[in-house]
Amino acid sequence: MKGLAAIVLAAGKGKRMKSALPKVLHPVAGKPMLHYPIEVLRSLGAKRVAVVTGHGGGEVRSALIGKDGKGGRGMKFCLQSQQLGTGHAVKCGMKGLKGFKGDVLILSGDVPLITASTIKALLKLHRRARGRERPVLSFVSAILVDPTGYGRVIRDGKGRVTGIVEQKELKGAERDIHEVNAGIYVVSSEFLIKNLKRLKKKNAQGEYYLTDLVSLASEGGGRKNGKKVSALTHLDPEEVMGVNTRVELARAGAAMRGRIVTELMLSGVTVMDPDSAYVDSGVRVGRDTTLYPDVHLVGETAVGAGSTIEEGVKIKDSVIGPGTTVKSFSMIESSLIGKNATIGPFARLRPGNSIGDGARIGNFVEVKNSKIGKGTKANHLSYIGDAVIGKDVNIGAGTITCNYDGAGKHRTTIEDGAFIGSDTQLVAPVRVGKGAYIGSGSTITKNVPAGSLALSRAEQKIVKGWVKKRKKG
Ligand code: UD1
Ligand code: CA
Repeated sequence: MKGLAAIVLAAGKGKRMKSALPKVLHPVAGKPMLHYPIEVLRSLGAKRVAVVTGHGGGEVRSALIGKDGKGGRGMKFCLQSQQLGTGHAVKCGMKGLKGFKGDVLILSGDVPLITASTIKALLKLHRRARGRERPVLSFVSAILVDPTGYGRVIRDGKGRVTGIVEQKELKGAERDIHEVNAGIYVVSSEFLIKNLKRLKKKNAQGEYYLTDLVSLASEGGGRKNGKKVSALTHLDPEEVMGVNTRVELARAGAAMRGRIVTELMLSGVTVMDPDSAYVDSGVRVGRDTTLYPDVHLVGETAVGAGSTIEEGVKIKDSVIGPGTTVKSFSMIESSLIGKNATIGPFARLRPGNSIGDGARIGNFVEVKNSKIGKGTKANHLSYIGDAVIGKDVNIGAGTITCNYDGAGKHRTTIEDGAFIGSDTQLVAPVRVGKGAYIGSGSTITKNVPAGSLALSRAEQKIVKGWVKKRKKG
């Protein structure tokens, strides 16, 4: 977008959240809420973005910059050391836009559902009129059934906006106004420079209200005649909703999830119960995949095409290959699963696994930091930790890798085609060679060469007639 710079307000404490975490970092669909307005600005191509931080500034800054350090591209962080109000915050933000001339978009870090198309519409409205008619300030308003908490839009007899009155300053009939300020503005830089310094803090909260710019602009804003303020009245109250409390946080989360899941459905994913599909922003799901009710796909997760994710499954930071089924109540974290695999029901994949194509990890099987080859099966009741297992291995029920000796972790290696009988303990470090066979109930403490049988259970004894004799005695 040509000649566009932006200020994002993110310095407030968010008192009403009653939280140790700065408000703008509270997650909405898995991402800090501040992430969303920033993403919108990126999609609009805003070259210069000033983020005003203050309360928890360090945390906010590092959340935006991200672990890879790339998130801060084109951003200037401006410190508002004392939170003296939104007007004061914009003043701080202007320091980050030194030398800029043009339209300044002002967004709030606590309005996560705002979309690029609304901002485009606002800019269009703002730039439509030329010359004297051109507004110096335009903002987004909405009509709410319950306007409590928002600034109200005051209009004159001709419908022209003359000011915004904050909730705490409302008098008389102003309380009946349902048109509210969404906190999204575009203002000419020239007007901001001239008028930010005219803001006063003589109000109920003792703060510099950004909203007072509206009455200053409508008075003329330094120019005579003409319409100086315009408002884009938005019809979707959800999109312009501000998050001030945890109640609104939950509402915003539900709305964001609704958007994500709708997009998935439109792209070819079957979602059985959209209201109970918890899919984080940024998660990818392929075509013809089915999500059962109460599925959680969180963090950096991708699910391939034609997969099935059954009810009660949670998948975090993982990649699931195409055609794979994750059965009910399984949990998968930081793992890679190949194609056409079957996981669960009731499987637990802790971080660090790579599960091959067509493998089967069945009920009550826990796998951690292990590599499991193609077509390998561990169908029942096992613990596999720190193991490297080849392809087409059969892991019998109740197999345990004893990977921890109280001091350190050790590796179990099982080569291709081996057969591990049920109820085997593999005391690591240990290696089972290619095609080897472990008899059920064995405790394996030494390496098993390829192609051999290992058996370590005690031989069975039979005492004939023992039961009868005991009863007599
Ligand atoms: C603000 C508007 C109100 C509007 C509402 C929409 C003002 C005075 N009021 O009220 O008209 O209806 O948003 O959601 O602007 N912030 C700072 N520094 C400060 C104070 C706030 O950076 O000193 C930031 C906050 O982090 C937040 C944003 O500004 O992201 C809005 O502040 P908040 O206190 O939530 O304003 P509201 O009371 O919601
Ligand atoms: Ca707010």
